Amino acid sequence: MVLRCICRGASNPSAAEGIDRRGLAAKKLPRYVHGRLPAQQAAVVGAEAAAQAALCAASPSILRLVDVRQDDSSFYLIQERCLMDLRAWLRPRGGAPLSGREVACIVQQLLCALAACHRAGIAFRDVKPANLLVREIGADGLPELALADFGCCRSTADPPPASHTSAGTPLYRYGQALGAGRLFLGEGMAVEHCQGPHKFAF
Ligand SMILES: Nc1ncnc2c1ncn2[C@@H]1O[C@H](COP(=O)(O)OP(=O)(O)O)[C@@H](O)[C@H]1O
Ligand SMILES: [Mg+2]
Repeated sequence: MVLRCICRGASNPSAAEGIDRRGLAAKKLPRYVHGRLPAQQAAVVGAEAAAQAALCAASPSILRLVDVRQDDSSFYLIQERCLMDLRAWLRPRGGAPLSGREVACIVQQLLCALAACHRAGIAFRDVKPANLLVREIGADGLPELALADFGCCRSTADPPPASHTSAGTPLYRYGQALGAGRLFLGEGMAVEHCQGPHKFAF
């Protein structure tokens, strides 16, 4: 049973919704997307679910996928429910720099998750605070994290794209992907929390 919407997704119209009281959440993805055949959309959702299922079985740093359901209008990725995302955890600081202990905690967990992806031949391609979910906050105030949202990921087993494609979120994309002649002040997540939110120069 759907109780309430937790959050609208960055890539509309997906959203995460709490579905019951068993500590689960559902990521809702549409069956019908403009410009895509229904079978293509089913394959896109299937690829996201397959990557997450394989990765979470191999590593505790990856958000656990429990089931995939569907109805007439949507697919639902049923996942473990987290407290919030890292963006929400960071928000009350108003852009103040993190302590060394906090940076080490976050980066170490992020690197473990990305290492699991790379061992499986998967490039995640959308690293940002909104895709790192906070499972719980320890007695020391540090977050336990899980990497989420495999909608942009790509497997080395996939055939190379026929033409140039870009993935991820523009503010967090590495400089080379933004095109020649543009200055990008480093990796988004590091910059955002060293210098305050969204201070990028193009
Ligand atoms: N399992 C979950 N538990 C708690 N919040 C979640 C969960 N999954 C997603 N969210 C929230 O919903 C947001 C969007 O989910 P996400 O999977 O990243 O979708 P999108 O592809 O739209 O970015 C996340 O940034 C997070 O705030
Ligand atoms: Mg996301």
